Amino acid sequence: MKKHADTIIFNAGTVLTLAGPDRPRKGLEMEELAPILDGAVAVHAGRILTVGPTAKILADYTAAEQIDAAGKLLMPGFVDPHTHLVFAGTRENEMARKIAGESYLDILKSGGGIHSTVAAVRQADEAELVRLGRNRLDQLAAHGTTTVEIKSGYGLSPAAEEKMLRVINRLALTHPLDIVPTFLGAHVFPRDMARRDYLDWLTGDALNMARPLARFVDVFCEEEAFTVTETREILQAARKAGFGLKAHVGQFHALGGAAVAAELGAVSVDHCDQLSDDELDRMRQFQTIAVLLPGASFFAGSKQFPDVNRLRTADIPVALATDFNPGSCPSFSMPMMISLACLHLKMSPAAAICAATSNAAWAIDMGTEIGTLQPGKKADMILLDIRNPEQLPYFFGTNLVCQVWKSGRKIFEQGQITTFG
Ligand code: NIG
Ligand code: FE
Repeated sequence: MKKHADTIIFNAGTVLTLAGPDRPRKGLEMEELAPILDGAVAVHAGRILTVGPTAKILADYTAAEQIDAAGKLLMPGFVDPHTHLVFAGTRENEMARKIAGESYLDILKSGGGIHSTVAAVRQADEAELVRLGRNRLDQLAAHGTTTVEIKSGYGLSPAAEEKMLRVINRLALTHPLDIVPTFLGAHVFPRDMARRDYLDWLTGDALNMARPLARFVDVFCEEEAFTVTETREILQAARKAGFGLKAHVGQFHALGGAAVAAELGAVSVDHCDQLSDDELDRMRQFQTIAVLLPGASFFAGSKQFPDVNRLRTADIPVALATDFNPGSCPSFSMPMMISLACLHLKMSPAAAICAATSNAAWAIDMGTEIGTLQPGKKADMILLDIRNPEQLPYFFGTNLVCQVWKSGRKIFEQGQITTFG
C-alpha cells in the first residue's frame, strides 16, 4: 500500500537537502549540501514528508499533484536574514555622488542617505508603504527567497517607527512569505530630536511599542550612527524587555560593537567588513552568527570585503543576506549575493549556499523550521534552471529560479525557458 502525500516533485537532477546538524554550521560543516541525485520530495500539509531517490519516492508514495522537475535542481528556498525592505522613495541620485568620489558616510553626514529615506517614509501613508512592500516581496519570491527579515529604521520618531512596524506586520499577515520583523529605531539619530531624548525613548517607551510588533532589536553601531556605549545601553534594555538581539557592526569601522552584541547574546552581528581580534574572540566564545552582506560592500565600490577565512578559522558560523535597502544595496537577489560571496569573499559555492539557507535560518532563530529539506520542516523549495550547485554562483546576475513553493504551495512560476539544461 502506497502512502499518501499532497504533492510529489520528482525527477530533479539534484536535490540539495542540506540535511545536517540542527544548529548553525561552521567550517567544513558548511561544505556538505547532502545532495540526492535524481531525487524527489514528498510534501504533506505544507511540510516535507520525505526526500529520496525518485524511484523510491514514486514506489512508496502517491499524490494528487505530481510535478516533473525535468532534471533541474531543487533546493531549500533562500532565507534573507537582513533587509530594510519597507521604504518610500529611491536614492539612485547617490550613485552619481559616489561615482564622483563621495563616500556613503559623507552622504549621510550631509543629511542625505538614510535621512532622505526617513523624510520620504514619514510622508508616505501606511497603505502606500504596504503596496510598495508587497511588490518588493513578490520580487524577492521571484528570486527564490521564501523567508525574509525586515527592519524598521526609516521612521526615527515614535509615530513613524510604529507606522513602519505596523506595515511590516501587515505584510506578514497578507503575503505568503514568512516575515520576521525587527525594530531598528537605533538606525541613526533623527535630525529633529536631541540625542539623549532619542536614546531615552529607544530604551524606554519604544520597547513597549515594539514588543508586540517585533522579534528582534537591532542597532547600527558606526560613526555617524550609534557609539559602542550607546549600542550597549540599547541592547541591554532590549534584552531585558525580552527581544532577540542583532547589530550592524564593522560596516566601515571596527568600533567594538560586535563584542558588545555577542556578550549580550545577540543571535547575529551583521556586515563584519571590519572586525578587531577582540570582537572575533567574543563572537567565537558566544557562537554569534556573522551575517555577511557582500552586496553592500560591492555597491559601495569597496575593495574591502569581510574576511571569511578568518571567521572560518575562528569556527564562527557565517550566513549571507542581501541587506536590501535603497542606499547601500538595492538588490533583491540572494543568488547574486552567493556569486559575490564566492568571487569576493572566496567562499566555496557549497558554503555560500549553506550560508544563504540553513545558517541564514538560524540567524533569525528559525533554524528548526526552515532552511533545509528535512522531514518535518516547512516545504519551502525552489527549482533552479541549473544542473549542479556550482552553476548557481557561476551564472551570475541571472535569475535561474523556475518555481517557488512556500509551505508546499506554489507561489511563483516563470515561463518555460530552459537556458542551460
Ligand atoms: O545595512 N548601514 C546601515 N543601514 C543599511 C543602509 C541603510 C540605508 O542606506 O538606507 C545597511 O547598509
Ligand atoms: Fe542593514
